[in-house]
Amino acid sequence: MTTRDNSWVLITGASSGFGEEFARQYAAQGHPLILVARRLDRLQRLDEALRRQFRIEVVVEQVDLSSAEEVIQLHQRLRERGIAIDILINNAGHGLHGPFLDAQLDASLAMVQLDVASLTAVTHVFAQDMRTRGRGKILLVASLLASLGVQNYAVYAAAKAYVLRLGEALHRELKPDGITVTTLCPGMSDTGFATAAHQQLTPALKQLLMQPAPVVRAGIRALQAGRISVVPGWANKATVIFIRATPRWLHQAVISRIING
Ligand SMILES: NC(=O)c1ccc[n+]([C@@H]2O[C@H](COP(=O)([O-])OP(=O)(O)OC[C@H]3O[C@@H](n4cnc5c(N)ncnc54)[C@H](OP(=O)(O)O)[C@@H]3O)[C@@H](O)[C@H]2O)c1
Repeated sequence: MTTRDNSWVLITGASSGFGEEFARQYAAQGHPLILVARRLDRLQRLDEALRRQFRIEVVVEQVDLSSAEEVIQLHQRLRERGIAIDILINNAGHGLHGPFLDAQLDASLAMVQLDVASLTAVTHVFAQDMRTRGRGKILLVASLLASLGVQNYAVYAAAKAYVLRLGEALHRELKPDGITVTTLCPGMSDTGFATAAHQQLTPALKQLLMQPAPVVRAGIRALQAGRISVVPGWANKATVIFIRATPRWLHQAVISRIING
């Protein structure tokens, strides 16, 4: 018989991709869940499926996380219901593929708002509660692109570098408060990401594409083990070694070729 874990897990971006998979894997462990995203119909379908299959408690929260005010209101609503978050999966985000100067400035700034500012706000409000209780776990979803500047992903790669650095710093800073912070750095994976980013997958990227399940498993395992960060999959790990071991001009050229064709 599997033991049920009654600690609450809040997952941002739970309506598709990694977030949906985090919900399934934590539900399978018996955790009650808070599912956060904008697309209510998708969250409600997932809610029904998880309740039926795993008999867990699920709270659906339709929130546009690009508004800091909505983040504060979400926190307030959960507090009023007496729900304390034990595990925070800070996953919502999106990319924008294409030349820096061809993107609408508004679109680039909206991405920074979600991937950087909102992730910081969500981490800040829920980590404060965790500090008060002396325990908690936070997973930040960055990207393999956090390790280098990439042509046609300039703003996204820079935003994810922020997430990785934030996670590394908080890992050490919040440890004495009983809070584990782990950063997950996935490579290209089979989610809604490429479509949302307007990225055509090159043949090389198709070869490297991971499914969400092993990525999420690696993230959950690393968070449970208290690791500072994790890169899922052997090909992605090899890419990080290649980036560290080679001059910038070389790894930038190779990775730009893989991503941009
Ligand atoms: N898949 C990859 O190749 C890859 C690689 C590295 C890192 N990542 C990162 O992984 C994370 C999850 O992305 P994914 O790959 O699972 O892509 P996805 O399938 O497109 O999922 C993105 C999630 O973010 C939510 N979201 C987007 N904007 C939001 C907003 N303003 N407010 C609330 N929720 C919002 C979306 O929900 P709604 O649209 O319903 O709001 C959706 O649930 C992102 O941070 C992404 O940067 C992905």
